[in-house]
Amino acid sequence: MDDKKTIFSGIQPSGCVTIGNYLGALRSWKQLQDEYNCYFCVVDLHAITVRQTPAELRKRCIDLYAQYIACGLDPEKNVMFFQSHVPAHSELSWLLTCNSYMGEMSRMTQFKEKSKKAGANVGLGLLCYPVLMAADILLYNTDLVPVGADQKQHLELARDLAIRFNNSYSETFTVPEPYIPKNGARIMSLAEPTSKMSKSAENQNAFVSILDEPDVVMKKFARAVTDSDNKIIHDVQNKPGVTNLIEIYSACTGASIQDIENQFLGKGYGDFKKAVGEAVVETIRPIQDNFKHIVQDKAYIEKCFTEGAMKASYTANKTLAKVQRKMGLASRKL
Ligand code: AMP
Ligand code: TRP
Repeated sequence: MDDKKTIFSGIQPSGCVTIGNYLGALRSWKQLQDEYNCYFCVVDLHAITVRQTPAELRKRCIDLYAQYIACGLDPEKNVMFFQSHVPAHSELSWLLTCNSYMGEMSRMTQFKEKSKKAGANVGLGLLCYPVLMAADILLYNTDLVPVGADQKQHLELARDLAIRFNNSYSETFTVPEPYIPKNGARIMSLAEPTSKMSKSAENQNAFVSILDEPDVVMKKFARAVTDSDNKIIHDVQNKPGVTNLIEIYSACTGASIQDIENQFLGKGYGDFKKAVGEAVVETIRPIQDNFKHIVQDKAYIEKCFTEGAMKASYTANKTLAKVQRKMGLASRKL
């Protein structure tokens, strides 16, 4: 192997990829793929922490893989695969679970929010989810994990687990660093701008998918929740809706917040929402064109994810064997 550093990241096939996923994660993956050894995973085992409809999930997995390619990720250059095709992820997850504490898991913000909604029947998978994420990352001696701001806490946990394991059993894991983009790290819901834009939201108007048709995108922005004072000013506390739109516009066009405020001085929300919608349409147009071609070529997609899983398994199995040995399990001879 060369001396490039290693990147690992993933997206759950739990809905349509949103502009939040794109601006917060996928876009930076694309920029990093030339400088790093990259592992880009469709984290299907994370998606089943909540109940899925099997036929829909299967389709979403393939579509998400095709969207990775459509966003400019090269399956020749990067290792791109499904998490469930590399069993070492589940296996390391168990070994790490045995080195994790109930307290640190139940303190995770995402778990607290999800368990509030689910009540007494909150699934155990949701509690253990960050351990599986740590296993994903640690299997590949990952240096850097490009994610949106919402995953920072999970990444800190992965670091804690790596450090704890290294201290208990001798140096084994690389301790990963987060890589969070300056622009677009936290895109908020269009319907409820104080919570993050999520692909599993029930309200279709709350998120924009990277595959939404231009007229749908325009409509969703026209309906985006703002406030009544009609001024385009960045103010997270008092104007979360408008602030979110400014940030989306900034992430799509590269213009600074200050420039955007100046550009729309004296203009109303109608004009601004139209401009944001158009900027998003232009950003996602090339992805949609690519996706339409790629998704038809099932054989190509299958070849890519099979080769990806083979390459990933090679490194993952080496790390797994090391961990098993250090924890005292008899070495496997098959
Ligand atoms: P998920 O949709 O939870 O599988 O997230 C996949 C990736 O997209 C992770 O790196 C997240 O941090 C990122 N992401 C998800 N939602 C957003 C959002 N609203 N804004 C920015 N990044 C996001
Ligand atoms: N938990 C991440 C999310 O919901 C997805 C994920 C799973 C991930 N494993 C990962 C991201 C490893 C980065 C690295 O966004």
